Amino acid sequence: MAKTILDIKGLRKTYGIHEVLKGVDCAVQEGEVISIIGSSGSGKTTLLRCVNMLEEFQGGTINLDGEEIGYRVDGASRRRKSEKEIARQRALTGMAFQQFNLFPHMSAAENVMLGLVKVKKMTNPEARAIAERWLDRVGLAARANHYPGQLSGGQQQRVAIARAIAMSPRLMLFDEVTSALDPELVGEVLQVIKGLAADGMTMLLVTHEMRFAYEVSSRVIFMNQGVICEEGDPKEMFVRPKTERLAEFLKTSSFN
Ligand SMILES: Nc1ncnc2c1ncn2[C@@H]1O[C@H](COP(=O)(O)OP(=O)(O)O)[C@@H](O)[C@H]1O
Ligand SMILES: [Mg+2]
Repeated sequence: MAKTILDIKGLRKTYGIHEVLKGVDCAVQEGEVISIIGSSGSGKTTLLRCVNMLEEFQGGTINLDGEEIGYRVDGASRRRKSEKEIARQRALTGMAFQQFNLFPHMSAAENVMLGLVKVKKMTNPEARAIAERWLDRVGLAARANHYPGQLSGGQQQRVAIARAIAMSPRLMLFDEVTSALDPELVGEVLQVIKGLAADGMTMLLVTHEMRFAYEVSSRVIFMNQGVICEEGDPKEMFVRPKTERLAEFLKTSSFN
């Protein structure tokens, strides 16, 4: 039986009076690749950001690799953990976003090395070796000393993915990593994610690439208005959606 890496129970998140996550339950086993789909505003990004404690949440629990994320819950009382503790927990996950957020004045290798040196306290040569290994894995061995401005969007996104994964996270979170790319650059980034999936990396990815979700995911989660509306095997869900909502969504999406 696979090990549960992530266990989300009754997750609630509000912005002011607006409840954007209305009780989300989701368990992820080691090695699973889960695609989160759903229309804009359904809460996909917020869900990932809660897992990474980039957002506070008001109810429920997120257990990551056996640890309660963000809060110490004791009966009815709930206290935010120390910032130091939260920073440590944040490093259990790696995240890649639509925007690559690379440092423009640092080479690809230096961008990947930064967290290894600053957070993991590695020496420069240790960090360099790991950075080069991951840049090689994402097909950028020859670009290690290039600056972001000298790289295409697809290459920059691959550096950003290498940077996140070099930190050895227990779970990778991808939020629409191909949405800002020119169409001809989408494939190379999806290929990298596919490779990581094949290697057994556990991942949660928000995507609009329905064909990709269909091919790569072990499970798909369809979110609608702050709840998981339907989930299951992509081979089943995309072909025979059980809910009207999902059927509607698939009609307007790129999956054909
Ligand atoms: N910082 C914020 N302040 C207030 N409302 C927000 C904020 N971020 C997101 N929201 C709202 O939360 C809802 C879910 O947003 P989001 O998680 O970004 O959806 P998705 O990623 O599925 O498009 C939306 O209604 C959005 O307007
Ligand atoms: Mg989003």
